[in-house]
Amino acid sequence: MKVFVTKKIPQAGIENLLKAGFDVSIHEQSDRLSQEELIQACQDVDVLLNVGQGKLDETFFKSCAHLKGIALTSVGYDHVDLAAATEAGIPVSNTPDVLSDATADIAFLLMLAVSRKALFRANQVSSGAWADFEFTKDLGIELYGKTLGIFGLGRIGLSLARKAQAAYGMNIIYHNRNRNTEAEKRVEATYVNFDTLLRESDVLSLHTNLTPETQHRFNAEAFRRMKESAIFINTARGKIHHELDLIAALEQGEIWGAGLDVTDPEPMQADNPLLKMSSVCVFPHIGSATIETRTQMALLASNNLIAVRNGKKMPQVIND
Ligand code: DGY
Repeated sequence: MKVFVTKKIPQAGIENLLKAGFDVSIHEQSDRLSQEELIQACQDVDVLLNVGQGKLDETFFKSCAHLKGIALTSVGYDHVDLAAATEAGIPVSNTPDVLSDATADIAFLLMLAVSRKALFRANQVSSGAWADFEFTKDLGIELYGKTLGIFGLGRIGLSLARKAQAAYGMNIIYHNRNRNTEAEKRVEATYVNFDTLLRESDVLSLHTNLTPETQHRFNAEAFRRMKESAIFINTARGKIHHELDLIAALEQGEIWGAGLDVTDPEPMQADNPLLKMSSVCVFPHIGSATIETRTQMALLASNNLIAVRNGKKMPQVIND
């Protein structure tokens, strides 16, 4: 069986595929393939390992209906038209669980970095703007005993809640479509409605999928209902907040700060006004970017393709 891999992945994933007898071809260059290039590359392979956020839409599935399986290397799958995949009879898998702690670490890092204006402070040193010991200028805020609001208490949200409780004794509130009583058994967390989440959170962190329901849920109206001292964190998907509304909310002092690992579009342009704000920190979508986690993701994705080769159901299939 032949597999096409759209970007370099950790060697453990490639070896796993080779050991299972796959004929592997990889797009080694760092540029993202265009849709035409991807469709072309898929014509003489049986399965696809789609690395990153490259879009797989209806046109792709119509042109590649011969594929027997597609493994994604992400937990999120908003870049894939699953209905079209199902229509074409192609199973698609994702990589849940293995990246939860690493992604929650980035949310935690952003929370702390924003609260102490860490990036702005470090830039003062590197740009030569550190003039004297200041006592009252550009102060941060502390997290001890504050309320962390989680929008989407799933695996990643749960991992963040545990860290915040252990490190800062934070009080956890959350909002999901439905109450998650399983998660509540593992962490002390109170279910609240969306309005209460907005009004009571000192830090509000997003851990939900991008869906038509969550797209731009954090907009001008939502920011207006948050505390003026609140910190907004998004490590999920950039489209869940409305970027221009976020910029306005920060400029007008409706919220205090923001930490983003995801933006809309990605990459964010270097002249974005958010990058000039002292209580904003933006990372380039690095939630799962550790050696350990990326290796686990590559293994999980390759194991799903090996299941296809063996005529079995993909363990992490998302469209059955
Ligand atoms: C995920 O797994 O969804 C991460 O955001 C990487 O795309």
